[in-house]
Amino acid sequence: MNHLIAPSILSADFANIQRDVEMINKSEADWFHVDIMDGMFVPNISFGFPVIKAIKKHATKPLDVHLMIEDPDRYLQTFKDAGADILTVHLEACTHLHRTVQAIKALGMKAGVAINPHTSVNLLIDIISDIDLVCVMSVNPGFGGQKFIENTYHKISDLREIIRAKKSSALIEIDGGVDMNNYKKLVETGANVLVAGNTVFSSADPNKTISDLKKI
Ligand code: DX5
Ligand code: ZN
Repeated sequence: MNHLIAPSILSADFANIQRDVEMINKSEADWFHVDIMDGMFVPNISFGFPVIKAIKKHATKPLDVHLMIEDPDRYLQTFKDAGADILTVHLEACTHLHRTVQAIKALGMKAGVAINPHTSVNLLIDIISDIDLVCVMSVNPGFGGQKFIENTYHKISDLREIIRAKKSSALIEIDGGVDMNNYKKLVETGANVLVAGNTVFSSADPNKTISDLKKI
């Protein structure tokens, strides 16, 4: 499959959110990546339901909602109601991950599992057949604009092998520090979805940067 691009709204201009959402609508981007941080699981707070609803009101592409929050089970229905199409929870934040994944799917959303840089992809072996997406964190979550962690490449290769062995259809998403220097190698190594915040929104022409990230 061709790889997908998911610009991260965290790096958008919140005073001009409709303008930035419409830029993504018109661009070659595939999804909106929406980062939710609770100040507990990660050392930062991003935004909540009213902002997701405002994005959903204008977005013409799926909302890929990445929950960096503790005990996400409390809010699955609320994220569905706010407009999430894909809902990703952190493996490190879920005691009963299998139950959480089933609950997300029962609500009619695609289910994703994110793993921090220190978490082994081997911990996904017994959940990989149940999920639609693995979000491999290539920075420590909490902030946009951080430096890409090189160890991510071997995690992609190992995960590709697990997905093949288990005959899973899960997509591999890479989140954090994706830029013009590493995106091709990420796709060649086996990534299916690239999240890009700073690279898109700090560029002179975000629409062109999205097109460039689609070129292999
Ligand atoms: C990091 C977030 C990322 C972030 C990526 O905690 O999960 O989605 O927005 O931003 P960049 O592409 O700037 O590293
Ligand atoms: Zn994210």
